[in-house]
Amino acid sequence: MEQYQYPKGNVLYRNLHHSFPLIKYGRGAYLYDLKGKKYLDGSGGAAVVNIGHGVKQIAEAISGQASKVAYLSGAQFTHFPVEKLSEQVAEFLPFPDGKVYFLTSGSEAIEASIKLAHQYWVERGKKQKYRVISRKPSYHGNTLAALSLSARRHYQETFRLMLPKSYKIPAPYCYRCPWKKEYPTCQMKCAYELEKEIQRLGKETVSAFVTEVIGGSSTGASVPPAEYFQIVRKICDRNEVLLIADEIMTGIGRTGKWLACHHFDLVPDIIVMGKGLTSGYVPISAVASKKNLTDLLFRQGQSFLHAQTFAHHPVSCAAAQATLSRISENGLIDYCSRIGDSLIKKLSALRSHPHVGDVRGRGLFIGVEFVKNQKKKTPFLRKAKYVEQFVAKALENGLVLWPNIGHADGINGDLILVSPPFIITDKETSLIHEKLEYTLAEMAEIF
Ligand SMILES: Cc1ncc(COP(=O)(O)O)c(C=O)c1O
Repeated sequence: MEQYQYPKGNVLYRNLHHSFPLIKYGRGAYLYDLKGKKYLDGSGGAAVVNIGHGVKQIAEAISGQASKVAYLSGAQFTHFPVEKLSEQVAEFLPFPDGKVYFLTSGSEAIEASIKLAHQYWVERGKKQKYRVISRKPSYHGNTLAALSLSARRHYQETFRLMLPKSYKIPAPYCYRCPWKKEYPTCQMKCAYELEKEIQRLGKETVSAFVTEVIGGSSTGASVPPAEYFQIVRKICDRNEVLLIADEIMTGIGRTGKWLACHHFDLVPDIIVMGKGLTSGYVPISAVASKKNLTDLLFRQGQSFLHAQTFAHHPVSCAAAQATLSRISENGLIDYCSRIGDSLIKKLSALRSHPHVGDVRGRGLFIGVEFVKNQKKKTPFLRKAKYVEQFVAKALENGLVLWPNIGHADGINGDLILVSPPFIITDKETSLIHEKLEYTLAEMAEIF
């Protein structure tokens, strides 16, 4: 039997202790492996595959652009794909006439966003505004600055000495409120922590606050109370701190609106996107800025100091253009909202299982958090590897899920993200539910 596992072959696999199924192709909401086994894609990687697998329209946009001109340096030329894509993106931004910079990965785009924020302050004569506040739990990427902003202890540990200093406030993760309070009697303590942290650091040193809008994998789609971002926006304004929304996972319709910001009437200064922008067909990410930031650079005779070879890549931009058109033409965001509501309802039934602590989310962005003790919310100990075993069993049962660990206390905690493509049918959402029930029953025999 073929084994795709380290040290066989020449791939440095993402996990050196795992045997990988080899996928030959994908169609719609399904993946098919070498042996012909069919998997229902319940996660699209980490919430990437919004429009489904194997869409010809996107493949044709990619090959069409590649055969016209595949590469142009963004420092030397512009082209229709980037001009048109930026217009398409600007249409759903919550601020007028946004300016959009395209890169290749989410981590890079996060780095670019904090550089843009600081460059803005430098040009305003406030050089000392360089510190960036983020939240815990959170995830913003794996390059060094993005990793330092992320509260992922297990990713950071080895590189601790290399990481820039970071400043974190608790995320609005109501299921595990650090003060054991409940909304609304909590009076949004977690939002006001931002002001305390700015005051502690000195507002003259703080450049930006970076925040996921609905929590990503690190809090398993935890949705903040409606007023959270109203408070945070005001705190940023009165302290001259830019608000950077990380919509890498939640953007492009995943939560049932083009951006999660739209659920909260949030107007950030900078919005970072990735993943769903091409639905994973080719890599792309984007940093969208309010016009007043880039206007200032322009007036000062400056340009944005972030050069990358593959910025504004014509093929990636053409793929993203085709993806956004497909989403609009097929009304996929409204559908995602409706089918997402129905899937959340179906999955809420999992709460009756003693090891399911919470089911939450918005649109097709749903988190299921596992616990050892439902009442006390006690997590399984990390060494039990609950979620790793859960995800492996679900895969055997033909369902792909995205796991996360560490959210309960930095080390322990097990959850899955359920984030299938927006083309999933009612029958397939019932299948996800059935497969999860079945996997939970199998897990109950071990735990
Ligand atoms: C919220 C969030 N921010 C940033 C990133 C980093 O993106 P990338 O892996 O494309 O670098 C991710 C990736 O999962 C993410 O979920």
